[in-house]
Amino acid sequence: MATQSEVTKSNALRNVAIIMDGNGRWAKSNALQVSKGHEKGVGVVREIVEESINQNIESLTLFAFSSENWGRPNKEISSIKKLIIKAIDDQLEDLINQKVLLSFFGDIEAFGDSIVSKINLAENKTKIAKPSLRLNIALGYGGQQDILNIIKKAAADALEKNISINSLDKDYIINNSCVPEESIDLLIRTGGDKRVSNFLLYQIAYAEIMFIDEYWPDFTKKLYIDLISRFKKVSRRFGKRV
Ligand code: IPE
Ligand code: IPE
Ligand code: MG
Repeated sequence: MATQSEVTKSNALRNVAIIMDGNGRWAKSNALQVSKGHEKGVGVVREIVEESINQNIESLTLFAFSSENWGRPNKEISSIKKLIIKAIDDQLEDLINQKVLLSFFGDIEAFGDSIVSKINLAENKTKIAKPSLRLNIALGYGGQQDILNIIKKAAADALEKNISINSLDKDYIINNSCVPEESIDLLIRTGGDKRVSNFLLYQIAYAEIMFIDEYWPDFTKKLYIDLISRFKKVSRRFGKRV
């Protein structure tokens, strides 16, 4: 049986992921264009990155645009594309100074050459051996698509005899997923909806999932700190009897 100190000891929080939802509703409730909601949302990212470093979190994985978000109006998509370029231009210097390692994952090619080259530049400039934080941005990402791509790769590797089917294991999945993190400890979704909307399906197997009502542009450092302290009090059992 676990001792009292084992039961009460706080959880280490290494890998956080956030579904930053509610930009559209925030804009609507403030009588603004949806693009203004996305713009305000980018500002919140800056604060949460800062606090993640303060909290010694190892990685922060943010859902910025899903595979399914391509179904939105062209006007909204082009404002998001402009915002991606602007966010990188505005924040790259600070990220370098903060020793943040920046990575993007998902179907980035679909965003076009100018975004692809901007992302490559940002990733190269923030490459660092011992980062203060790994900041991963999901763009054009879908968990189901990622799993399907892994299956296709495994089938091709098996057919070409690069691997034996019996050697397929968890490491193969992790190494061939486009997601930079192996597993998530805490998944936060803002905006009030209680669903994961095709984010990190494999990596959230044992994540604590916290749904909060605030729209992403209203998310604050204080709320983030509260969720982190809630996480630290949770009993994580991983299926075991403790
Ligand atoms: C999340 O906010 C950002 C993206 C999906 C790009 P939404 O734009 O989905 O905001 P709501 O859910 O419509 O309020
Ligand atoms: C999830 O939010 C995607 C991002 C936050 C980038 P959505 O707004 O796309 O999810 P649904 O449509 O409400 O499930
Ligand atoms: Mg939404």
